Amino acid sequence: MPARGDKIVPGTVVVVGSANQDYVIACTALPRPGETRLAGRLRRFPGGKGVNQAVAAARLGGAVRFVGAVGDDSDGAFLIRELRSEGVDTSDVEITTVARTGLAFVSVLPDGENAITVVPGANFTLVADRTARAVRRLADASSIVVLQGEIPVPALRAAVETGVRCGARVVLNLAPYTELPAELLRLADPLVVNEVEAAALLGTPVAALGSPTEAARRLAERAASAVITLGGAGAVWARGRDGAAVPAPPVGQVLDTTGAGDAFVGGLATLLAEGHDLDAAVSFAVEVGTVAITRVGAQASYPSRADVVEAGRGRKRGEEPLAGRKSS
Ligand code: RIB
Repeated sequence: MPARGDKIVPGTVVVVGSANQDYVIACTALPRPGETRLAGRLRRFPGGKGVNQAVAAARLGGAVRFVGAVGDDSDGAFLIRELRSEGVDTSDVEITTVARTGLAFVSVLPDGENAITVVPGANFTLVADRTARAVRRLADASSIVVLQGEIPVPALRAAVETGVRCGARVVLNLAPYTELPAELLRLADPLVVNEVEAAALLGTPVAALGSPTEAARRLAERAASAVITLGGAGAVWARGRDGAAVPAPPVGQVLDTTGAGDAFVGGLATLLAEGHDLDAAVSFAVEVGTVAITRVGAQASYPSRADVVEAGRGRKRGEEPLAGRKSS
């Protein structure tokens, strides 16, 4: 991390990823094949794992640049406006006329769990050349380059490899799970997955390995380091023989888990860009994700730095666990 005089200047967080317009419906249960169900309210939110992670990091004080693609339509314009209003640099967002902006259809169940179907649209127009050029221009040795699995593999690969060549640290959130070459996974520091994605990578459920810590250790044999997010149970991380389980603080009511994993990644990247180690970054990210699940929406649920600090202080004072607070 560069120092200016006595002041430590955090590195930039460069997020290369997806931008979606989310259509969120509240439902009592998911329809089975052949079944039709009526749902409650339909709401529209800015989303996409890439945009969510960029916004989460910016709200926590990170200097964030977003590289992605949207269609030449009102959804795309809305997403760019949202990013800018959060202070994210959007100079490297391409507006394409060959596909419409990505869409995500999100069903949220009464217990806050969600199921998502994504129509990638413009996200799948991202090509290797352009992502490599953007990362080369935006990233340096102090940067954290953040990726997810919602863009084409050649574009993802180019961004990871260019990031590493620039000396940046690469956070690879393999969500959704996408098969990647072993040599690419090895560059992830950390590789961040949930239990479903971890099982896909390991070829066996996490529970079958005895403990999430053991699963993280096995993943860390295939990446520079690994983190498994465990929902309400927190997260585990591993690097070589080091590692730890980081439990999540108790919460009152879980309202909506949509994008909580993205809030986690945004928090993780922000602390790594400030020069903190993986253990501190995972602990902070767990706090960020915990606040997010007590509020509705993806980005709408993301806390500021002050919110995270306040949630921790509240627990120390023995106040009620976070529950159902509305986002500002
Ligand atoms: O992780 C949540 C996100 O996944 C949603 O915002 C949706 O757009 C999908 O990309």
